[in-house]
Amino acid sequence: MTHATAQAPAHGEIDLAVVREILSHFKPQDHQEAQELILSALQEINEHFGWVSLEAAEVVAEHLGTTSNRIYGLLTFYADFRTAPRGKHFMLLCHGMSCYVMGSQKLVQELSDRYGVTDGGTTADGEFTVQVVNGCLGVCDRAPIAKIDADFYTHLTVQSFNETLQKVIANGGGWETAHGGH
Ligand code: FES
Repeated sequence: MTHATAQAPAHGEIDLAVVREILSHFKPQDHQEAQELILSALQEINEHFGWVSLEAAEVVAEHLGTTSNRIYGLLTFYADFRTAPRGKHFMLLCHGMSCYVMGSQKLVQELSDRYGVTDGGTTADGEFTVQVVNGCLGVCDRAPIAKIDADFYTHLTVQSFNETLQKVIANGGGWETAHGGH
């Protein structure tokens, strides 16, 4: 058996050996404690891979003594979890009050018109997964804001937004690189 590595593919299958390795750090003493650890375990897996697959959910269910239905219920209930793979780059587009006032709607529209992607979706070329955030990313004085992978892009116009996306694509990298793995 090969040793599980920290690198995981952005697309396709989740390496269940890595899931088991992550879960091996969760050692509940009893059933009650196992139930309390479910969300943390899912968060770690989601953070590591960018999503949680049905197969990974089954492994979690088995490890923590619950049903995969219950796990899938949690995955669909909490907005932070994804049940489909992320694109190469992960974008949070702020649509909070300040960003909205400064024109974030135009950026949302541009994503839809030019890139064919809406909230929660991934572009057809797999470059970007987009999450539109109605909260605030905490840098309102530089609105409107997009956070792509680990970087903030500020005072965006439709033009600078498009230029940014092209630059990000040209530079390669991705959220996994930015995230740094475990
Ligand atoms: S509302 Fe967008 S950063 Fe605050």
